Amino acid sequence: MITLNGISKRHGHQVLFVDASLQLNPGEKVGLTGPNGAGKSTIFRLITGEEKPDDGDVTIQRRLTIGHFRQEVGTMGGRSVLDEAIAGSGRAGELHFELAQLEAAMSDPDRFDEMDRILERFGEVQAEYQDRGGYELEARAREVLHGLGFRDEQIDGDAGALSGGWKMRVEMAKVLLGNFEVLLLDEPTNHLDIESILWLEGFLADTRAAVLMTCHDRDFMNRVVDRIVDVDDGEFVSYTGDYDFMEREQRIRAEQKEAAYEKQQATLAKMQRFIDRFGMYAAKASQAQSRQKKIDKIEKLDPPVRREFVPFRFKTPPRSGDDIVRLTGIHKAYGERTIYKGLDFEVKRGERWCVMGQNGSGKTTLLKMVAGHLEPDAGDVKLGSVKMGYFAQEAMDVLDPTLTVYEQLDQKFPLEAHGTKRALLGAFQFSGHDQEKRIEVLSGGEKSRLVLALMLFDPPNFLVLDEPTNHLDMVTKRMLVEALAN
Ligand SMILES: Nc1ncnc2c1ncn2[C@@H]1O[C@H](COP(=O)(O)OP(=O)(O)OP(=O)(O)O)[C@@H](O)[C@H]1O
Ligand SMILES: [Mg+2]
Repeated sequence: MITLNGISKRHGHQVLFVDASLQLNPGEKVGLTGPNGAGKSTIFRLITGEEKPDDGDVTIQRRLTIGHFRQEVGTMGGRSVLDEAIAGSGRAGELHFELAQLEAAMSDPDRFDEMDRILERFGEVQAEYQDRGGYELEARAREVLHGLGFRDEQIDGDAGALSGGWKMRVEMAKVLLGNFEVLLLDEPTNHLDIESILWLEGFLADTRAAVLMTCHDRDFMNRVVDRIVDVDDGEFVSYTGDYDFMEREQRIRAEQKEAAYEKQQATLAKMQRFIDRFGMYAAKASQAQSRQKKIDKIEKLDPPVRREFVPFRFKTPPRSGDDIVRLTGIHKAYGERTIYKGLDFEVKRGERWCVMGQNGSGKTTLLKMVAGHLEPDAGDVKLGSVKMGYFAQEAMDVLDPTLTVYEQLDQKFPLEAHGTKRALLGAFQFSGHDQEKRIEVLSGGEKSRLVLALMLFDPPNFLVLDEPTNHLDMVTKRMLVEALAN
């Protein structure tokens, strides 16, 4: 259905792919893996035509319908969540609204003259709508929205009023409703809670569409995909199995590579010793020469590369007081919906709290009130003598897309030495060139990494983290977990 053949792609100095190939067949569920910034989202953009390869071909079967879920929300507003989801769901969605318009036109006395044309068009649209399962569309839309965690009053409420995370779910609903032949899903689980993730898993198990998906959640990947394409050092390497299978296979391949390398090194060393010893003796000189020629001819294996594991370096923060934060009698409501009614909550030094709860139960709301980004309706938030680091769920809440990576850090800490700042960004794996990139072109994981760097530059002694691992690849996630454990 979709073939990428001999693709090469670079951004300035950064080479993403070299002569890489990939194929997606009907009904297949393929996982795309690779570290943050490897180019996974770029592959999606190559398929949808938003980006062009520097070299190679992208071939898409004619008239193939593709649904693309990405980490961005379009502007929403002026219509209900239900209408928004239906409108975005491809052809049937368009027809749905055209039917509504035609119905209005039929009962409009001013347009009586055009009635024949309107009726004719109505017939056509209705037939196609029925053909595409349009009459079940609304029911299906409700089912999908429920599955993604929407309550009835939200479904009929204004889409524009939703938070970023919830708008993302509307985008997801559009893609799932569209009956597309191919689903490109870029980190679909990021904004979902456990129940919705399980629902999505069931949906993907039942769909007949081909799926190409990235996801930094190993378990989800294992349960959904039957093949993996790993973006590794500019190549696409295919594994016929799930994520665990790929890891085992990679370990075996790495060991084989290492063994082959060592064996070759030993052979080369032996030949070299012979040359060194006998090269000066006339009797053996020709033998030595022929060995030298042999050595020159052997295609040298590169030493196996290991993916780097650079631990985050947290500087030691100043010691805080015993009382970190105390919330008393907190009340908070959004319109009709009461989130907190007299909440008392306290954190002491050295404690580690996990905030859990269903969709929309108010986890982010709690953290925002603690971080001072949101005022409670009533009650008191009292911070102790602490230095807080707040990681917002939406990285863009704290980043400015028009700045470069370096400028963003420089803006926040204008007085620090340039060298120190460059070194910190280096420690967070922003190379020299990366530091000059504008934030708007960064990949999801790169943005998260930058937020962490900003947060930890001036080390806090109270961390308020709202889903900090969402966009991070598995290695970086492990680094963060270890750093936090320490
Ligand atoms: N227009 C651009 N100019 C310069 N660099 C770019 C541009 N667009 C993307 N990049 C870079 O290309 C690399 C690949 O980006 P991409 O979004 O495809 O990564 P990804 O594999 O999806 O990463 P993540 O796991 O973090 O989502 C990143 O390093 C990104 O900064
Ligand atoms: Mg990405």
